[in-house]
Amino acid sequence: MTAALEQALSPNIPNPSHELVQVVRGSRSGLAITVAIHSTALGPAAGGCRIAHYADPAAPVADALRLAAAMTEKNALAGLEHGGAKTVVALPTAARPAGAERTALLHDLGDVIESLGGRYIAGPDVGSSPADMSVIGERTAHVCCRPVEHGGSGDSSLHTARGTLAALGAVADEAFGSPELAGRTFGVIGLGAVGAHVARLLDRAGARLVVTDVDPATRGLAEELGATWVDPDDALATEVDILVPAALGGLLTARTVPLLRCAAVAGPANNQLDEPATARLLAARGILWAPDVVVSSGGVIHATGVELRQEPEERLTERIHDIAATLRQVFHKARTHRITPALAAVQLAEQRVRRARPGPGIVDGRP
Ligand SMILES: NC(=O)c1ccc[n+]([C@@H]2O[C@H](COP(=O)([O-])OP(=O)(O)OC[C@H]3O[C@@H](n4cnc5c(N)ncnc54)[C@H](O)[C@@H]3O)[C@@H](O)[C@H]2O)c1
Repeated sequence: MTAALEQALSPNIPNPSHELVQVVRGSRSGLAITVAIHSTALGPAAGGCRIAHYADPAAPVADALRLAAAMTEKNALAGLEHGGAKTVVALPTAARPAGAERTALLHDLGDVIESLGGRYIAGPDVGSSPADMSVIGERTAHVCCRPVEHGGSGDSSLHTARGTLAALGAVADEAFGSPELAGRTFGVIGLGAVGAHVARLLDRAGARLVVTDVDPATRGLAEELGATWVDPDDALATEVDILVPAALGGLLTARTVPLLRCAAVAGPANNQLDEPATARLLAARGILWAPDVVVSSGGVIHATGVELRQEPEERLTERIHDIAATLRQVFHKARTHRITPALAAVQLAEQRVRRARPGPGIVDGRP
C-alpha cells in the first residue's frame, strides 16, 4: 500500500473546510469508500456516489473533497435546504463490478450512508445509476433517485437538461442581448444522458447544432436532428455561439481556453474548470462562462423536490426555470464587482450558507 493510500485510509482526515471526511473499507467488497460531507449548514447534505477507477491512490479523497464543496455551492445556489457531500469509491481497475460483487459494494455503501444517521442523502453520479440506488436503499433510507417503479424520482437527466436550457437563455441574453435561442449555434460536447436531451431541446427551440461524442453510436442522434458532426478532438476549437460541455469535467484548462472560438461556455458537465484560476483565463479572452454548479442544478432540484419535499411538478418546473434568474444574478454581480462569474457564484452561495450558520467559507482561494 502506498503512503498516499495509507494517508487516505486514515479514519478521519482533518480538513478545516469540511465537516466530515471518512474513508471506510467496505466489509463485503474490500473497497475504500470515501465520504466527504462539506456542509450541513442549510440542511442534510445531498450529493452523488461516484464509482470510478483512479490511477493516483490519493485522487479519490481529493475528488470527494472537491466535489462535496461544489455540491454545497450547487445546493445553496439552487435555493435548496441542503448542504453538500459526495461519496467516492475507488475501483482497482477500469472494470465495473457486476452481479454479486456490485451488490456487495452497494450494500457497503448503504451501511456507510446509514451510519451517518441522515446527515448525508446519497444519489447517483458517474458510475452509479438509479437502479444502484435501489440496492443501496436495501441498507438505508437516506438515498434518492431510485427508479420510479421503486418509489423514487428516477433518472434526473431530463431535468438537468431542462435546467440547462433555462440557463442557456440567460447566457444568450448576457452575451448577445437577447435570450432567444433560435438561430444561434450551439456546440454540444457529449451526447450521453443529459447531452442528448439538451440537443433535442435546443433543436426544438430552433437552434443550430454542432455536436460530438467519443461514442460513434451517438452519430444517429446527430443525423436525426440534422446536426453537424465534428470530431471530438476538434470540438473545442469549432466556431459556435455557445459551447455546451455535457461530457466529463476538466475540459477548460490553460491549454484549451486559447483554442476556444465562442462567445460563451455553458453546459451541464460538472467541474469544467481544471482549476479555479482558469475562470480568469476565460474572462481575459472575453468568453462568458456560466458556472456549472448553477447550469447543472435541474436534476438535484427535481429529485429532492419529488422525494424529500413532495413538491408538485408545476412548482418544480418553476424552480428549474429559476436557474435562469440565479444565473442573471451571478452575471450581474460579476459585472458590478468586476469579478469572474465563478467567484460571483461562490460569493452568492457563501452568503446563503453563512446566513444559515456562520463558519468557514465554501472554497478558499477562488478567482
Ligand atoms: N445526469 C444528470 O442528471 C447530471 C446532473 C448534473 C451534472 N451532470 C453532469 O453532466 C455530464 C454528463 O452527464 P451524463 O449523465 O449525461 O453522463 P453520460 O455518461 O450519460 O454521458 C456522457 C457522454 O459524454 C461522452 N464523452 C466522454 N468523453 C468525451 C469526450 N472527450 N468528448 C466527447 N464526448 C465525450 C460519453 O461518450 C457519453 O456519451 C457529467 O459531467 C455529469 O457529471 C449530470
